[in-house]
Amino acid sequence: MRKLVALGVTLLAVAGSVISAQIDIDDDFMRNVEDSNKSLANHIAIKNAKGVSGDTQELSAMFAQIEAFYAAKGDAQDALDISKKSRQLIDEIGKSVASKNFDSANVMASDLSRACKSCHNFYKKS
Ligand code: HEC
Repeated sequence: MRKLVALGVTLLAVAGSVISAQIDIDDDFMRNVEDSNKSLANHIAIKNAKGVSGDTQELSAMFAQIEAFYAAKGDAQDALDISKKSRQLIDEIGKSVASKNFDSANVMASDLSRACKSCHNFYKKS
């Protein structure tokens, strides 16, 4: 019996850490997304490849979390599609800048900002 209780406690601890590893898509999180997105636009404008690379890494990680959040939530196909498309754009922006093509990176950064808005149209409450 003692062993079973111990096992139960361990399982609960594991479940708890899985849940807490998952972020919530709230204002705080989104403000970080917004900061990185602005930083990305600025770095593209001043053709700072190193800066862009840092921004795309951050955005990529955040969009992976957004995608995971909506995958776990379920019934949010639009959010999933938009997150996937955004991650592709972020990837492509990184590649363009690596080959010094800041103009195409700039066009894709605008597409990325449009993707933010389309998710907000679907899912943002206010
Ligand atoms: C897949 C969906 C989705 C995508 C993509 C998305 N957002 Fe959001 N965003 C949300 C949701 C949902 C909220 C509302 C969160 C809340 O109020 O709890 C939000 C809220 C915000 C807010 C408001 C925070 C505040 O202070 O009230 C900002 C700013 C924001 N997002 C920026 C961005 C930017 C910039 C991008 C793109 C780079 C982006 N978001 C992409 C879903 C998304």
